[in-house]
Amino acid sequence: MAEARIGLVGLGVMGANLALNIAEKGFPVAVHNRTTSVIDSFIADAGPLADNLVGAESYADMAAALTPPRAVIIMVKAGGPVDAVIEDLKPHLDKGDIIIDAGNADFNDTRRREAALRAEGFRFVGMGVSGGEEGARHGPSIMVGGAEEAYSAISEIVEAIAARYQDSPCAAHLGPDGAGHFVKTVHNGIEYADMQMIAEVYGILRMGDGRSPESIGELFADWNQGPLQSYLVEITAKVLAATDPETGKSMVDVILDSAGQKGTGRWTVIEALKLGQSPSTIEAAVAARSWSAAKALRETGETLLAAHDAKDTGPKVLDGDLERALLAARIIAYAQGFALLSAASEEFDWTLDLARTAEIWRAGCIIRSSLLDDISGAFRGELPGGSLILAPAFVRILGDSVSALRRVVAQSSVAGLPVPALASALSYYDTMRLGRGTAALIQAQRDFFGAHGFGRVDKEGDGFHGPWGL
Ligand code: 6PG
Repeated sequence: MAEARIGLVGLGVMGANLALNIAEKGFPVAVHNRTTSVIDSFIADAGPLADNLVGAESYADMAAALTPPRAVIIMVKAGGPVDAVIEDLKPHLDKGDIIIDAGNADFNDTRRREAALRAEGFRFVGMGVSGGEEGARHGPSIMVGGAEEAYSAISEIVEAIAARYQDSPCAAHLGPDGAGHFVKTVHNGIEYADMQMIAEVYGILRMGDGRSPESIGELFADWNQGPLQSYLVEITAKVLAATDPETGKSMVDVILDSAGQKGTGRWTVIEALKLGQSPSTIEAAVAARSWSAAKALRETGETLLAAHDAKDTGPKVLDGDLERALLAARIIAYAQGFALLSAASEEFDWTLDLARTAEIWRAGCIIRSSLLDDISGAFRGELPGGSLILAPAFVRILGDSVSALRRVVAQSSVAGLPVPALASALSYYDTMRLGRGTAALIQAQRDFFGAHGFGRVDKEGDGFHGPWGL
């Protein structure tokens, strides 16, 4: 008997919490999991929400439980497992039914799946969901890609389960096919950059200044009351305040310093490079995670390199400088992420609404911060050169904070403390403030060894050559 409004396949952490969120908002949801024993225990543990949960032991049961047109959310591991679920599900669906991939998919896969399913008469939605476990349960930020009419069929549910910012749901249909998953990927790229920059500031205080994690945590908690207010700064303060129950040491001190990565940061960089973009802060953050994994090399480096390096402690970095440096670098990271969205929108004809994207990131997602309201305002206002760093509000904030970023990067460098993301942010800024840079020399070199030709400042065209034939 058809009784469920939506189906959900994959009762892992994110899927289970999303199903409870949907059920709590009053929509009966049919749930399926490959290991079927999980279905019963999930429903048994759901308390009163079990009334809105329908267990489906098979895809046939799920199809029978759903009111048409059927909509099924897939929340399984990205890649092959998503294709496998789609193939198994399809025979039980009718034309016009909607399959929704709510995982962190590679947007190239989403474009491929959308085209293939459309050709077969199905509708496919690629839905980026941010906010971790807590967000999935109580209100994530939701970035939707796919046909507009496919979104209309599910928007009531999607907007009901999303986080809210001043009563407006943090969910939007952003464009066709892979647009939603691309925006989610770039969200994660910015997440990588912000986390790395926070970690670099922590490193300056911990390794450079020898402060305790607890006292650094207090500083982050304090900063979270000001212009750096954000989820990531808030949780950093909490993480640094935590003690390991086993050893009584600061929790952060007993955690191995090799960072994991599931791939979205790397995808951001790969897609950026394909689009002729270079989000340097995100690139630096992905690189820093890879370098962090080279634990054995670093341990040997500490004995062989550090001993021969005449680094200086330099002048002490001021707390106020660190706060403002982080703010400047964060603005630059957002600017690079949005520039990438804009380039992708043009390449794939998505007409992405960047202001709306910033708006749906204001609550629910991992990179939510007080800056996002200003960012959406900047996209709705005058934006010289299309870049956030040139929006009047950000020109002012950067003018007040870049000198602090300079001091932090310079002093860290003198002290031998790595700050790859902060330094990349500064280099990007310094490049963008030079109307004439150094690429004339690159062009001359290219022409010298390969007769590649160059443009001249005083003539039209680009096929000129230098007097290299000496
Ligand atoms: C989010 C998170 C979420 C997940 C990342 C972590 O927006 O809710 O970004 O998607 O935590 O995939 O990615 P890494 O494992 O690559 O750090």
